[in-house]
Amino acid sequence: MRRPHFIAAHARNARGLLGRVIAFIMARETWRQNLRVIDALGIEQNDRILDVGCGHGRSLAELATRAARGRVVGADPSELMVEIAARRNRAHVRADRVAVVLASAESLPFPDDSFDKVLCVHMLYFWRDLERCLSETARVLKPGGRLGLLFRTKADLAAVASFPPEIYRFPALAEVAAALEQADLDLTAASDCTNEPVLLLAKKLRA
Ligand SMILES: C[S@@+](CC[C@H](N)C(=O)[O-])C[C@H]1O[C@@H](n2cnc3c(N)ncnc32)[C@H](O)[C@@H]1O
Repeated sequence: MRRPHFIAAHARNARGLLGRVIAFIMARETWRQNLRVIDALGIEQNDRILDVGCGHGRSLAELATRAARGRVVGADPSELMVEIAARRNRAHVRADRVAVVLASAESLPFPDDSFDKVLCVHMLYFWRDLERCLSETARVLKPGGRLGLLFRTKADLAAVASFPPEIYRFPALAEVAAALEQADLDLTAASDCTNEPVLLLAKKLRA
């Protein structure tokens, strides 16, 4: 059954009371896939990590635990999500181990070569310009830094049928692979994408 338009709209830009409810549900629904990406990235103690489209911020606490001497930043364009993520991680935020910023993938407010790892989980459906978002991601990654991208592709017909196309755009795997190459990100691993979300791992080649 197709998700109603207004629910999908909150997944893209949560606000108000319904946005809070959706953030609560999303934190449970996407957790297994977030752990898949976090495990695959091989987080190290001193890593500086960015979660683009961090939403409710559940990943940030896990990342801060694994990068015990590093720093974790969540970025999201929804004011409500930023508020929820900052509150969820308030102890780490107070200790300056986690920060949550209002920003979108199109324009990340960080200097070049800032992060060892970047993850984007279930959010590139909302990118208007795939190449621009990936080159912005590449810019903030350190040379040799790793990106974990998780999303459903258009090959997942059940997903395509379940979400309104005016809000969710499911790309082809080849389209994302080409945009990664364009952004000088070397695709190092890809999982199957027909029934499960695909997990792509890529490495920044040069400065
Ligand atoms: C489906 S939620 C996924 C949240 C989280 N990553 C997870 O796995 O549960 C998508 C998130 O991406 C954010 N988002 C939407 N457009 C974005 C953009 N252009 N750049 C960064 N984040 C965006 C939304 O505000 C929302 O929090």
